[in-house]
Amino acid sequence: MTTIERPGTGSERLRSLIAAELERTRARTAQLTDAVDDDDLMRQHSTLMSPLVWDLAHVGNQEELWLVRDVGGREPVRRDIDDLYDAFKQPRRDRPALPLLRPAEARAYLSTVRAKVYDLLDGIRFTDRPLVEDGFAFGMIVQHEQQHDETMLATHQLRAGAPALAAPAPPEPRVRVGGEVLVPAGPFTMGTSTDPWALDNERPAHTVDLPAYAIDAAPVTNGRYRAFIADGGYDEPRWWSAAGWRHRVEAGLSAPMHWRRDGDGWAYRRFGRWSPVRDDEPVVHVCWYEAEAYAAWAGKRLPTEAEWEKAARWDPGSGRSRRYPWGDTDPTTEHANLGQRHLWPAPVGAYPAGASPLGVHQLIGDVWEWTSSTFRGHPGFVAFPYREYSEVFFGADHRVLRGGSFGTDRAACRGTFRNWDYPIRRQIFSGFRCARDADPEEAAA
Ligand code: AVJ
Ligand code: FE
Repeated sequence: MTTIERPGTGSERLRSLIAAELERTRARTAQLTDAVDDDDLMRQHSTLMSPLVWDLAHVGNQEELWLVRDVGGREPVRRDIDDLYDAFKQPRRDRPALPLLRPAEARAYLSTVRAKVYDLLDGIRFTDRPLVEDGFAFGMIVQHEQQHDETMLATHQLRAGAPALAAPAPPEPRVRVGGEVLVPAGPFTMGTSTDPWALDNERPAHTVDLPAYAIDAAPVTNGRYRAFIADGGYDEPRWWSAAGWRHRVEAGLSAPMHWRRDGDGWAYRRFGRWSPVRDDEPVVHVCWYEAEAYAAWAGKRLPTEAEWEKAARWDPGSGRSRRYPWGDTDPTTEHANLGQRHLWPAPVGAYPAGASPLGVHQLIGDVWEWTSSTFRGHPGFVAFPYREYSEVFFGADHRVLRGGSFGTDRAACRGTFRNWDYPIRRQIFSGFRCARDADPEEAAA
């Protein structure tokens, strides 16, 4: 989202901002789905993922449900397809067998829905109901489409066959970054009650008091991760939790997903192209159990979600929490590797302008970072506008990821944004950094 100002924003300005965000997002959806032919769109590239054409029509269906029917109070466009595109009724593995809309039909459906949305946006008052206050429902739908765009990007990464996507390489390192940053003990504000397009699980703002801790200044790199592999990390049960080791054996894990041996080194496949693994980039495509084992091997642990957020938002000067590590302004190309501008994480040191005041780099963009935390509601959580966005996923099954990846759009990424997945998942753009408790001398300093 570009800067949505606090309540009071002139409604004309909000209207044109929403229109621009809808358009920008749809262009990305088109890019991802125009890149391959109809057969490819209908095919399931992995049982973990939907056929791209399912994501496409699902995005339109959610827009119809929330904006056309609920906000606009208009007649349904295609009531008959609601069940087909209900993620809870249709498990991903079963989606290719459904009588899905063909690509041309799906595209026409999306255009019809979008035309109705532009029409209702023209006459809307942003103050009538909590759902439309500050344009929230539109922001939610923009974020929903962007999230599915990232999911479609992960599907592209799993696709066999000729490469369909291309992008310039990410920037080279501009500064040397390494080691850890000490975060002093004390309270900070976690979550938000004022960010107008923040989703329910980011709310409300609340105070969390943390003991002093150290956190890695950068995400764990391929080079460090290779050292863990070379040291026999995958064959040493003591680095793994019981559940992690069981999964490591059962799934036969021996390296990040999309890696293979290449002489005495490693290569990785990135959107259909193989190349030698570059050591100074954040490692990506590891599951939570692999991150946990690496951290144990390194003599550390994963940060809690609160530790991650304090490192990303707390401003030691003012004591306030910011929207991003660098401040409250929207991300630019200088701050972070976001939005599929590049098709891979940038090397460590590539975004000095995006560092936090304490000197923690690349918290936003590049790779989603696993935290040790299970997904729960913040104290005072209220489901809004539907339980199925967040609340039904609360509990011990999922782990929280923070910060967004190179495939995350800025509309769906900020210091408070929370993502979650099962600890075995690694087809997502997931990496991590480590943390540890501060030593007593460090904590006193
Ligand atoms: C927040 C990324 C876990 O993709 O499952 C999409 C987002 N919710 N449609 C997901 C979402 C409904 C969600 N994640
Ligand atoms: Fe969805």
